[in-house]
Amino acid sequence: MRYKPTEKILASEITDEADYLNRREFLKLAGIATAGALVSSACQADVAEAVAERPIPGRSLGKVAKSDFSTTAKPNSYEDITTYNNFYEFGTGKSDPHRNAKDFVTEPWTVTVDGECDKPGTYDFDELLRASALEERIYRLRCVEAWSMIIPWVGIPMANLLKRFEPNSRARFVRFVTLYDPTRMPAQRRPILDWPYIEGLTIAEAMNPLTIMAVGLYGKVLPNQNGAPLRLIVPWKYGFKSIKSIVRIQFTEKQPINTWQASAPHEYGFYANVNPEVDHPRWSQARERRIGTGLFGEKIPTQMFNGYGEHVAHLYSGLDLAKHY
Ligand code: MTE
Repeated sequence: MRYKPTEKILASEITDEADYLNRREFLKLAGIATAGALVSSACQADVAEAVAERPIPGRSLGKVAKSDFSTTAKPNSYEDITTYNNFYEFGTGKSDPHRNAKDFVTEPWTVTVDGECDKPGTYDFDELLRASALEERIYRLRCVEAWSMIIPWVGIPMANLLKRFEPNSRARFVRFVTLYDPTRMPAQRRPILDWPYIEGLTIAEAMNPLTIMAVGLYGKVLPNQNGAPLRLIVPWKYGFKSIKSIVRIQFTEKQPINTWQASAPHEYGFYANVNPEVDHPRWSQARERRIGTGLFGEKIPTQMFNGYGEHVAHLYSGLDLAKHY
């Protein structure tokens, strides 16, 4: 991005996959706010072991269904995912968000829904969450800066959420807006970007089964630095599309202008589909550094649509992806 931070690579601490799976498989906790009882005594030892070895902080999200959309690749460690972040409202360094967002208060939280829909309004996040079935989606995340991770998100399929607001026939795009509150997001006091952070999708992209509104990771509520309490996840697009800490969802007729596109239109576009054949003007997009794979990072080939082409390529048939980057 425009502000090239000095990237510090963190120690590689990949959670052992068996531990991770045991924890996810068997932690069936009752209710959103309270930790419930473990359902199977045979599993208790596994869970206790896994949790004791590497406890994941935060409140459990309770029952979470698995999904066929998840990759079977080993997720990055909780530490990687929560200490190497982009969240410019809390600073431009990779380790700024986890340090500076510690005290960010996200309760209560409301989301305003407006524009081309029949059920506009201001919705309480907790109520939206309670009314939603949660799924785990273990997705690849590919940042436009050429690094990547594998993240076990918990979220609500976006189509399920958006349909509740009854978008009308004029709704061709969905525009998402991050909170603007410089008293709570200190770096908004500086003109790093044109605040608030804004992103957009076509309605077809937003309704695609891969798209989720993430509310957690590793089975727990979303850490502040990852975009609490709710953020977009569109895994076939560069990470900057996955806007954090959303307070407004607007259905529009016109294509929204997203923050990075407004900031540097020759470098960042509206679509931002992961594409190894279209380089960023200042660096190649052919390969990516997988975070957590050692000091210099394992450089792996980047896949078209981040490997999700079978689910999304049809959305772009006839579109020149070099022009519509
Ligand atoms: N959302 C907001 N509001 N502000 C940001 O600075 N950074 C984006 C995206 N969402 C950003 C944001 C970028 S560039 C990336 S790569 C991802 O968040 C990073 O998500 P992560 O920190 O959870 O890995």
